Amino acid sequence: MGDKVIAYRRLFPDPGEVAITTLLQELREQPPPDGVRPHTLVNFIVSADGRAAYQGRSGALGDAGDHALFHGLREHADAVLAGTSTMRTERYGRILGDAERRHRRVQSGRRAEPLACVLTRSGDVPLDIPLFADTEASVVIFSGRQVDVGEARAQVDIVQLDPTEVTVTTALRRLRSDYGVRTLLCEGGPTLFGAMLHEGTVDELFLTVAPKLTGGGHGPTIVSGPELPELQPLSLRWVLERDGSLFLRYALDSTPAR
Ligand SMILES: NC(=O)c1ccc[n+]([C@@H]2O[C@H](COP(=O)([O-])OP(=O)(O)OC[C@H]3O[C@@H](n4cnc5c(N)ncnc54)[C@H](OP(=O)(O)O)[C@@H]3O)[C@@H](O)[C@H]2O)c1
Repeated sequence: MGDKVIAYRRLFPDPGEVAITTLLQELREQPPPDGVRPHTLVNFIVSADGRAAYQGRSGALGDAGDHALFHGLREHADAVLAGTSTMRTERYGRILGDAERRHRRVQSGRRAEPLACVLTRSGDVPLDIPLFADTEASVVIFSGRQVDVGEARAQVDIVQLDPTEVTVTTALRRLRSDYGVRTLLCEGGPTLFGAMLHEGTVDELFLTVAPKLTGGGHGPTIVSGPELPELQPLSLRWVLERDGSLFLRYALDSTPAR
C-alpha cells in the first residue's frame, strides 16, 4: 500500500498539514549516530486509558494513520527489534512486504529488508511465525541458550551469548559493530522496553494515543518491570493528529551513550 495520501495535522511545532513522506524525510535527515550502539527508536500504540493491548493484541488499537507511521518507521530503520512474546502474539512476518517501500530503500543504497532482531534468555523463539518461513527475511537471534532453527527458510544468524551477557546493551553493540546497524526500531513489548529504559539504550519514543477505551482488563501498559530509580524526562519533538489519534514523538533526555 502506498502512503502518499496519508496526511496528519501537525499541532506542534509549526502547525499545519504534513504528509507522512515529509515526516519520514525529516527522520532521514538526522545526522548518523557516532556511538557504539545504533540510534534507537521505540514505537508503541496505547488506548486513551493507557493499555498497550486489547484482548491480548495491539492491532485493534490502530488505524490507517498509525499503520502508515508504523510501516514508515520500519522503512526508515536498518533493523527492527522485538521481544519474543510480541513476535509470538502479533505473529510477526517479514518486516517490509510492500514493494514500493523496498524499492525506495534499494534506491537509497540500503538493503530492501530491515534485519529482524530477537533477544531471548530462554532460547524459546516462536519459530512457527511467518517471519521464519519467509525466504526474503533476515533474522538475528541474540540468545543465552542454544537455539535450533530447524526448518526455518529465512536467513537466520544465531548469536549465542554467555547467559550473564544477555542484555540489550550487548545486543545493540553487536548490531552496530557486526551488522552495521545505525538506526534501530524497537517495537516492544513492555518487558523489553522496560529493560531498555533501565539500560539507558533508548533515544526516542514514538507514542500513538488511540481514541479508544479498553475499559479495564489486564492489558499491559507500554512498559513492564521495576520502576526506574529516577523519572526519565522526555522532550516533546512533535505532536500530530489524524482522525482523533494523537501521534507523539519524544526524545529521551540525558541517555548515556552505551
Ligand atoms: N501497543 C503496542 O504498541 C505493543 C507493542 C508490542 C507489544 N504489545 C503487547 O505486549 C504484549 C507482550 O508484552 P511482553 O512484555 O510480554 O513481551 P515482550 O517484551 O515482547 O517479550 C518478552 C520476552 O522477550 C525477551 N526479553 C525481553 N527483555 C529481555 C532482555 N532484557 N534480555 C533478554 N530477553 C529479553 C524474553 O524472552 P525469553 O522469555 O525467550 O527469554 C521475554 O520473556 C502483547 O500483548 C503485545 O500485543 C503492544
